Amino acid sequence: AHQWRGVLAEYREHLPFAETDTLLSLGEGGTPLVPAPALSRRVGAEVHVKVEGQNPTGSFKDRGMVSAMSRAVSDGATAVVCASTGNTSASAAAYATAAGITCAVLLPQGRIAAGKLAQAVVHGAQLIQVEGNFDDCLEIARKLDAEHPVELVNSVNPYRLEGQKTAAFEVSDALGRAPDIHVLPVGNAGNISAYWMGYREYHEAGIIDSLPAMWGFQASGAAPFVAGHPISDPETVATAIRIGAPASWSLAVEARDGSGGLIDAVTDQQILDAQRLLAAEVGIFVEPASAAGVAGLLQQSERGEVPAGATIAITVTGNGLKDIDTALSQRDLAPTVIPVDIAAAAEAIGL
Ligand code: F0G
Repeated sequence: AHQWRGVLAEYREHLPFAETDTLLSLGEGGTPLVPAPALSRRVGAEVHVKVEGQNPTGSFKDRGMVSAMSRAVSDGATAVVCASTGNTSASAAAYATAAGITCAVLLPQGRIAAGKLAQAVVHGAQLIQVEGNFDDCLEIARKLDAEHPVELVNSVNPYRLEGQKTAAFEVSDALGRAPDIHVLPVGNAGNISAYWMGYREYHEAGIIDSLPAMWGFQASGAAPFVAGHPISDPETVATAIRIGAPASWSLAVEARDGSGGLIDAVTDQQILDAQRLLAAEVGIFVEPASAAGVAGLLQQSERGEVPAGATIAITVTGNGLKDIDTALSQRDLAPTVIPVDIAAAAEAIGL
């Protein structure tokens, strides 16, 4: 049987690598596009969920990271740096290990989900906690890149978007067409920009004959695109998208406007409700930020803005296991305790 070779090998003809470049892979991409009847019924459309939490480090970041890291190592880099709310750093740490180079990650102190922190640690990255937010971290990372012999692997590195665009190829390949609407969360705005790039390239190549409207959703406490300008004090339970000054600002605006789409906001409560719905009604456990798109789709539906019968792809960006603290804090965790006894077990279960 054919084994998936990772996004760089699978989509090589659509990517800017030369024969002589070193192409890394940890088996990223090839993630499932899962029909979600529970969501489809709710919004009156045909909803498919692109489960990016199934990537090697548990988030969509691996697509862009394998690309940026392959470029870096092919160019002879020996060290990379990134700012991160957790997933980028987890991915950078893993792919730097695969590339055999060193990795430093700048993280907002105290605001990283424990699973993500663990990933950076076990993969041996140099962990730098900054007494500031993601935007502060990115500013430092950019300056380190400009002034020192270290390669920046945040999504301002164009190879990040190149790799990340393969998700749009996969959605199109799986559906045999472009969706009518593509929904996803927006933080630093790399992903929405990359999807739009991918759909446009497939369209220009004649592989798909239409383009989706891009629908992005931010957390209401961290919604600079809704405000129309960067904000200085972003706050949300969805720490992955706690970002006030997105790097890919103009690309995201182009994706929104060029696609006839929108970028709107949802509250933290809507995000947590959507996370619960995905877990308890669809069967997919995602981290809070990943549920922002689902929350947004439900909001659009309540407003009567979802076209009946539309084909909708919705990206859930990260695995729920990365942030179990937030998930468990939303639940009543009172297990029934019984003695070592079959009858007691049967009674407790209600058999
Ligand atoms: N969902 C998750 C789980 C994320 O980790 C991120 C971004 C996003 C959505 C937003 O994607 O930035 O391309 O608009 N996480 C970055 C990080 C910022 O450092 O891991 P975006």
